[in-house]
Amino acid sequence: MKIGVFDSGIGGEIVANDLKKHFPDATITAINDRAHLPYGTKTEEQVINLTDTAIQPLIAAASDVIVIACNTATTIALSFLRKKYPDQLFVGIEPMIKTASELTRTNVVAVCATPATLKSKRYNELKKSFAADITVLEPDCSDWASMIEANSVDMSRISSVIADSLAKKADVIVLGCTHYHWIYEQITKLSQERAHIIEPTPSIARQITALTAKRPR
Ligand code: DGL
Repeated sequence: MKIGVFDSGIGGEIVANDLKKHFPDATITAINDRAHLPYGTKTEEQVINLTDTAIQPLIAAASDVIVIACNTATTIALSFLRKKYPDQLFVGIEPMIKTASELTRTNVVAVCATPATLKSKRYNELKKSFAADITVLEPDCSDWASMIEANSVDMSRISSVIADSLAKKADVIVLGCTHYHWIYEQITKLSQERAHIIEPTPSIARQITALTAKRPR
């Protein structure tokens, strides 16, 4: 099986590494678009055009499935890509609002994501469907992806977002950008066991298995 993984930057690598464990016999090709990073501060039109252009090598390689390992590209561009490439299987990654709403006991959750994801129609639909009765905090994480990409994370910035979310009684923190998976351990420590930290990597392999079984190529 050929699996293509796309992210604007380093977020895709952590997803691809996990997929290698689940599919040791698969050919996994991870590509990025570092020249145009961050996607999270761009317009919808820019994200759609950049994503469409960037994934061309994965389309040309006849990937069995393409994982859009970027919440920003998934929430903004995935429906466009599915329409444009109807024969191509895609798996997207988007903020785990449903799981967060099932887990919370305080009815307050925090979604850490890029500005573009938070503005997207898809994210707001998810919120409406699954989080209408709970408080969803959306702290400013606008420079996190760039800090992580540059390997120059200012932990005091991360720490103040987590402390503020906890002070507002959030008991679930959603990592809604694959770049943030790289600081999962640090965020877990900062949350002092007062919040679940959730991200969707474990479900991606399950979705790939289910999709490719349904439509063998
Ligand atoms: N890794 C991307 C995501 O999951 C965003 C990074 C960026 O802003 O380019 O949303």
